[in-house]
Amino acid sequence: KNITLVGAPVDVGAGQRGCLMGPDAYRTAGLFETLETLGHMVRDLGNLSPEVVEQAVLPNAVVKNFSEIASWTRALHAYARKLGREPGVPIYMGGDHALAAGTVTGHAAAAHELGRPLFVLWLDAHSDFNTLESTGSGNLHGTPLAFACGLPGFDGFLGHPLKHPLKPENVEVLGVRSIDREERELLVKHSVGISDMRMIDETGIGALLSPFLDRVRAANGLLHVSLDVDFLDPEIAPAVGTTVPGGVTLREAHLVMEMLHDSGLVSSLDLVELNPFLDDRGRTARLMVNLVGSLFGRRVFDRITRSF
Ligand code: ARG
Ligand code: MN
Ligand code: MN
Ligand code: MN
Repeated sequence: KNITLVGAPVDVGAGQRGCLMGPDAYRTAGLFETLETLGHMVRDLGNLSPEVVEQAVLPNAVVKNFSEIASWTRALHAYARKLGREPGVPIYMGGDHALAAGTVTGHAAAAHELGRPLFVLWLDAHSDFNTLESTGSGNLHGTPLAFACGLPGFDGFLGHPLKHPLKPENVEVLGVRSIDREERELLVKHSVGISDMRMIDETGIGALLSPFLDRVRAANGLLHVSLDVDFLDPEIAPAVGTTVPGGVTLREAHLVMEMLHDSGLVSSLDLVELNPFLDDRGRTARLMVNLVGSLFGRRVFDRITRSF
């Protein structure tokens, strides 16, 4: 595969600073080399920087850093829209999850131009489905999925209404275990696909993911994966500002990545919320790089061909 690495050092969407060091932590942890060793053609476009935007009118006084996030959203949207029309798989190295406001909507626009539906797998302890009205914290990394699904009130992000919103029923939020009260109502109202930790415990993560991948395939869809570090249990992935106990295990996370690889469906990927300032000797950055390795074909044994 042709893989393009893009650094998006966004960190004003999160409540804690430090995600701006994420792209360099992935480089230090060997993301480029890992993908190259797996036989891919990799290029690193370096880090993006946002356009300058005029001060926007705040829809809600609690919202933080609205103009900065609007700037990032515009820059990333344009970039993702362009990369989404080219062959190859872009990997957006974040940066906090606010960056997905640009990447997901850019890929949705590109998919529309290609005449294919976009599906999104949101791997996260949170559903990030707050609107600018419903957010209690004012941290915009809690809002990108609502924006991408076309919920009202976000016109300031791009400076105009979103032309090609995601269909909420084409979204699967997997691993979720922290949702705000109003956010919960919005998720139900818009029929977003949700698989929480209890469903993972009872059903198994593979059995939950399979039917979603089947739907993407049946629809000839493109698949954007948005991987938040806090999807993982904080015991194995401490480098994130919004840890929630009871997360996905190492084995569950690798299984998801291996199934995504075998599906051949993944067309773009966000790596978000890594805060290297909170890491323990690089272990979270290395774990994330290992997971990306599984997503791009690393395996021990192929049970179909019975080869190593
Ligand atoms: N729901 C909370 C909020 O809106 C937490 C969001 C956490 N999001 C994240 N990308 N870590 O503030
Ligand atoms: Mn998130
Ligand atoms: Mn169009
Ligand atoms: Mn999260």
